[in-house]
Amino acid sequence: MNKSFIIGDEFGVDFIKKVISDAILFKNDIIKIPKHDKSALFLFFNKSLRTRMSFMFAAQQMGMQTVCEDILNLYSFEMENVPMNSDKPEHIKDAARVMSRYADVIGIRNSCFIGGGKLPKNSSVEDVISDKFINIFAKYATSPVINMESDAYHPMQGLALIMSIFEKIPTTSGFESQFSEYNEFERKFDEFKTKKIVLTYAPHTKHLPIATPQSQLLAPAMMGSNVILTCPKGFELSDVCLEKVCKYASSFKIIHNQDEALQGADFVIAKSWLSIDNLTNGNLEESDIYYEKYKNWQLTESKMNLTNNALFSHCLPVRRDVEVTSSVLDSKNSMIIDEAENRMWVQMSLINSLFKS
Ligand code: CP
Repeated sequence: MNKSFIIGDEFGVDFIKKVISDAILFKNDIIKIPKHDKSALFLFFNKSLRTRMSFMFAAQQMGMQTVCEDILNLYSFEMENVPMNSDKPEHIKDAARVMSRYADVIGIRNSCFIGGGKLPKNSSVEDVISDKFINIFAKYATSPVINMESDAYHPMQGLALIMSIFEKIPTTSGFESQFSEYNEFERKFDEFKTKKIVLTYAPHTKHLPIATPQSQLLAPAMMGSNVILTCPKGFELSDVCLEKVCKYASSFKIIHNQDEALQGADFVIAKSWLSIDNLTNGNLEESDIYYEKYKNWQLTESKMNLTNNALFSHCLPVRRDVEVTSSVLDSKNSMIIDEAENRMWVQMSLINSLFKS
């Protein structure tokens, strides 16, 4: 069985609920953090603060041996079945199998757009949407592969988002009731379904990846919420992702008027991303033109006043007073620091679940 976790819906909704429930129990010290005499390898082809640190702390708190490697220290990998006479000295198929002999779980961050950018040479939009690199790696790896952000998805951010929303739904009977017939977790997951969750495009000077917003949309949809995407025309994310969102959400709408979308929202997530339309036709504007064109999408206090006193989420890092005003980021409704902490708890819980399943 391939136990890799790349999109986030591989093992179904109940698996995700269990990961979130366990993460809450570990965080609140209701269940002791499990120990595993195993090893984890975290491979970074891009920069990171939260993902790198939260995975290292999560694995080390479980007593695991950890190795964190940057691309600078690795060979570049060939992905195609061609005679290897180019500048890539190692095939991904060999690297994945070798690394699996060393590590019991392998995390990979590999996105061509982190930091902002265009399609790399010899890549297509289809390669990005289909997450070619991580899927080939996972095909050959014999240890579970965890997606720490690929071209198309960032399921760790999706998990942390769900956990953070879940935590903000008031607890009534205490999590100790988890073993009762209708436990506190089920009640809160049922209440989750009634929430209106809005993902809004935010302006930026760079063309950022679609991975995080796709997971920020898919994760609450998997909890059966009412999900709204608000963005300029042409920024609607990939059809593959939107089809999944439609499959899981109680309701899903795309609304191009941001003020209209925010009305009555319970949770607002802000994020910037590039337009797949513009990526396809090679029409990615220079940073100053790009920012100027969409700067009215900045999330402000007055826009948050349109909501149902919504709680606010951003994956971080955030460009303060560009994407979102500092007054929103620092407001009492902001979940940004809690959510960054929750990355550690959900990842700990995910690794534990992958080892147990
Ligand atoms: N949100 C997130 O993944 O942060 P890093 O890029 O710092 O890992």
